[in-house]
Amino acid sequence: MNILILGGGGREHALAWATLQNPKCDRLVVAPGNAGIARMAECADLRVDDPAAVVAFADEESIDLVIVGPEAPLVAGVADALAEAGVACLGPTREAARLEGSKAFTKEICAAAGAPTAAYAVFDDLDAALDHVTQRGAPVVVKADGLAAGKGVTVAATVEEAHLALRDVFDGRHGEARAVVEDVLRGEEASFFCLVDGETILPLGSAQDHKRVGEGDTGPNTGGMGAYSPAPVMTPEVERRALEEIVCPCMAEMARRGTPFRGVLFTGLMIEDGAPSLVEFNVRFGDPECQCLMMRLGGQALDLVQACAEGRLGDARVRWADDHAMCVVMAAKGYPGAYAKGSAIGGIEDFAGTSDRMVFHAGTAREGGRYVAAGGRVLGVAARGDTLREARDAAYAVVDAVDWPEGFSRRDIGWRAL
Ligand code: AMP
Ligand code: GLY
Repeated sequence: MNILILGGGGREHALAWATLQNPKCDRLVVAPGNAGIARMAECADLRVDDPAAVVAFADEESIDLVIVGPEAPLVAGVADALAEAGVACLGPTREAARLEGSKAFTKEICAAAGAPTAAYAVFDDLDAALDHVTQRGAPVVVKADGLAAGKGVTVAATVEEAHLALRDVFDGRHGEARAVVEDVLRGEEASFFCLVDGETILPLGSAQDHKRVGEGDTGPNTGGMGAYSPAPVMTPEVERRALEEIVCPCMAEMARRGTPFRGVLFTGLMIEDGAPSLVEFNVRFGDPECQCLMMRLGGQALDLVQACAEGRLGDARVRWADDHAMCVVMAAKGYPGAYAKGSAIGGIEDFAGTSDRMVFHAGTAREGGRYVAAGGRVLGVAARGDTLREARDAAYAVVDAVDWPEGFSRRDIGWRAL
């Protein structure tokens, strides 16, 4: 089978690594890929957000399956174009991708499906939104509708802070001028991953990530500084409720509307006293959560992804090991603010990786025969073990062997679970 993965971060490196462990994979191309991926697969220069370009490439290269890593190509309609061309694709249509692309849309689906989520109101007008917040008071959550790369959400402690966030939204800084204002949910967050083929829902496991840059979960938000899987808060009972109360009814509502969801459904939950509420849906794997899931799934990930893309999940089974995985992100000093590029990274040149230790590249480049930093999040060091503690110790042992003075990582990934 010839496989094309779209994306070039740590998530896609992990997807490539797992795919290559499956003997079904004859050829793997990653677009655009990165310096670490280039060590194991072909990388292609391709405009991944351009549906016509992706279809033309898939046709020229006889691609049998496309795995879409990030959300942007899906929101642009890459899955629709591939479906029309008869190429199997892991990822939803543009209409179904609105579950990530529009927070107001997701709220509407939840309301129709009766799924628990924070009470909310949607505003297309700044003055009405400001009045609403003044009247309801704080704390309150302000969200920009539309994709904002994880940066469109403010959990405001005061009315003033909420007003600032609203002005920011209507400045057009986050794209569309529409805001969702909602109640603050309390509890512990966890991410729940399912494959959905339009009909069958296959749970793939849970994870928790650390969004804040600083230890103890302090400081500004990032794309994610580390993650671990499974999430202890996702007990079998919480998972059952999340499926029954949120995932199943929302997927049924999408199907009822004639826009069934097919792809990876990333359900962001807030869990309080064993009761899950929906924070958000994403229509793809999380990064760095995916690195943990791929560590745990290995080569069978390709079978599952293929079954999902071909609408055959009804026959698919996940072979679980009773294991734990952790991914520790190494970022350039200054991230998520301004950071320098080009610093040399030593100690990973000869690191081949094993089935339970891997250095996934996110933002690296090759220069003069060595790796240099080329992004904010640069490496994701992942490890697997019989316990979370074992996975953590193994991951940090590799982190400590990386020689990169211009980089940093949080030392407390997994603290809540440990
Ligand atoms: P989102 O992009 O919707 O996932 O929001 C990003 C982050 O903001 C979430 O992971 C939560 O930590 C936080 N958040 C979003 N909505 C709420 C809410 N209603 N109550 C509390 N925290 C929230
Ligand atoms: N790590 C969070 C995300 O990928 O959205």
